Amino acid sequence: ALRTLTPQDMAGKRVMVTLGPTREAWDGVRFWSNPSSGLMGAALAVCAWLRGAEVTAICGPGVRTRMPQGIARRDVISARDMYAVAASLWAQMDVGMFTAAVADFSPKPIGGRKFKKAEAPQGFSLDFQPNPDILQSLAEKRAPGQKILAFAAETAPDMHALLPLAHAKLGRKKADLLAGNLVNCADSGFCSPTNSMAVVDANGREEIWPNQSKADVAWELCSWLLRM
Ligand code: CTP
Ligand code: CA
Repeated sequence: ALRTLTPQDMAGKRVMVTLGPTREAWDGVRFWSNPSSGLMGAALAVCAWLRGAEVTAICGPGVRTRMPQGIARRDVISARDMYAVAASLWAQMDVGMFTAAVADFSPKPIGGRKFKKAEAPQGFSLDFQPNPDILQSLAEKRAPGQKILAFAAETAPDMHALLPLAHAKLGRKKADLLAGNLVNCADSGFCSPTNSMAVVDANGREEIWPNQSKADVAWELCSWLLRM
């Protein structure tokens, strides 16, 4: 019923969205993660679904946003889990939207026991090993016509300084469209209900958007993808 109120301009498109943080276990009770809320990804999933797409949301731990029942939800914990689910679905998708704040590295786990304070009275260091890059690896095995929306979390002095970083990351990731935001700023990025974006595409177009709700950002990004 909700979908009768929106244009069905994404009907027939199969869309996969990654969202939220990933959590990399170290011992039986501790992990490495980040404060991503999954709000931007949930906004995109809902937006694409309202516009008629068939949507799968691959959610990291702690994504609390409720999404319409018509959206298929897959819950994962670690970067490796997220990669496995995304890779298994990718061949059936028309669009991949990669909003998850995937941990680039995991601490080498010590197993399921709890590490005790007495084991390291002088402190200790952790070894980190790299995780798979979900977006980059799926971009490398894309079929013609599959579209990729990437995000980039950056720390930069201002929005204009984001543009060269966004262009560089778009090229490196082989995405069609990339939306960059500042994470060193109060009303944008992690956990914020709003986002200020620097958006660049593979045709060389670039725009800086004023701070707006993640729902509005999602709508504009879906429209941009449809135009490409
Ligand atoms: N991404 C991913 N898998 C990873 C790391 C990142 O799918 N292991 C995706 C993110 O979801 C995002 C894009 O890649 O869409 C860029 O993520 P970002 O962390 O900004 O860039 P990185 O390439 O990881 O580089 P860095 O963190 O060093 O800036
Ligand atoms: Ca990263």
